[in-house]
Amino acid sequence: MSDNSSNQMWGGRFAAGPDAIMEAINASIGFDKRLAAQDIAGSRAHAAMLAATGIISDKDAEAIREGLLTILSEIEGGSFTFSTALEDIHMNVEARLKELLGEPAGRLHTARSRNDQVATDFRLWVRDQIDAADEGLTALIRALLTQAEAGADWVMPGFTHLQTAQPVTWGHHMMAYVEMFARDRSRLRDARARMNESPLGCAALAGTGFAIDREMTARELGFDRPAANSLDAVSDRDFALEFLSCASICAMHLSRLAEELVIWSSAQFRFVTLSDRFSTGSSIMPQKKNPDAAELLRAKVGRIFGANVSLMMVMKGLPLAYSKDMQEDKEQVFDAADSLMLALAAMEGMVRDMSANRDALRAAAASGFSTATDLADWLVREAGLPFREAHHATGSLVAMAEKAGCDLPDLTLEQMQSVNPAITEGVYDVLGVDNSVASRTSYGGTAPDQVRAQIARWKEIVG
Ligand code: ARG
Repeated sequence: MSDNSSNQMWGGRFAAGPDAIMEAINASIGFDKRLAAQDIAGSRAHAAMLAATGIISDKDAEAIREGLLTILSEIEGGSFTFSTALEDIHMNVEARLKELLGEPAGRLHTARSRNDQVATDFRLWVRDQIDAADEGLTALIRALLTQAEAGADWVMPGFTHLQTAQPVTWGHHMMAYVEMFARDRSRLRDARARMNESPLGCAALAGTGFAIDREMTARELGFDRPAANSLDAVSDRDFALEFLSCASICAMHLSRLAEELVIWSSAQFRFVTLSDRFSTGSSIMPQKKNPDAAELLRAKVGRIFGANVSLMMVMKGLPLAYSKDMQEDKEQVFDAADSLMLALAAMEGMVRDMSANRDALRAAAASGFSTATDLADWLVREAGLPFREAHHATGSLVAMAEKAGCDLPDLTLEQMQSVNPAITEGVYDVLGVDNSVASRTSYGGTAPDQVRAQIARWKEIVG
């Protein structure tokens, strides 16, 4: 609205309308239309409360509540015309209500402000995203459990520094991610419980003189209680920041698994085969099958971290209560939420559809002197050596095998005894990878029995 007509919602004190540039920088309707359903739910609860407390008539409240439903279906059906001059979703909805109902529409905004309205809408929206992420994580955890169960005793190399360390089981490796994603889920649930307080009725910043019932609107919108300080409630965006930080940690976990899938699906590793449904080809190299979904997942984390940092910067240093800076809270959260949901779905699909190459895992597990620790432990247990000495003797045997171009179990007993005469035939029992993993029976260790116990525990939890 770059002519001189002033805003129909707040233009009373203005002689001229905003400059086109002012309108462009001020409007949020281009993105906050995504809050339409939450805005309408909040307004419907508010109208019902205004009638229940006798602030407006039942008749007006009924008309308002019906009108709001009409608007919701117009928006969902795509027939609603959004206006930039009306700035945001709140005023777009209210202006349309006025078109539909005339005078009663003007009573809806009694005892509230756009400040408590937007804080309420955005909380409701973030809460829905937390619920969606919870579902996405649960599905991913189930897919990992299925993989873990199928290969609870398949041996593979465990790495540190991406160098072969000790044999572990495929099931154990999958279950490591179950732990991570379950923590993500629990963090989101914690955040949800903390954010579930209603700002509605805090009005602009100070509360209202109308005898409203904030318990009623809180209940109606599924909040646990009304927020206790009006200044805080209208200017608090912790709920969005907590969501973004939970999302960031989750995205970091996704990126680690994604990176492993990229490595594991390479011709050099061949630990897993990703399904065609989650791979792409090359336009020039016919042999290629690229793990693009995993690579994109590895990259998505950047946008999500970025959103978290960006909102922290928006909020830092803002004096109480509302400042228009806070309108900049939404786009980043929308983008991060969209990225997270897509990433979770893509990871779930990849994990569900991939197949682990049991033989390649096993061959890799047996190479790289992966059972050197088992040999050292055997020397401690069976020959009574102090661990440091056993470590040293094993190091000499590794060097000997390396020089001979063979693995530890390929050394003869004579070669072994040349390093330590106390070594007997029994040592060969611990040099095999199956015995190695089977021996790691400490709680949380890689022994298949331990892994199966963890799978059973998590299956009980996620159903
Ligand atoms: N579109 C605004 C936002 O998202 C709504 C709140 C406007 N409040 C105000 N005092 N101008 O922040």
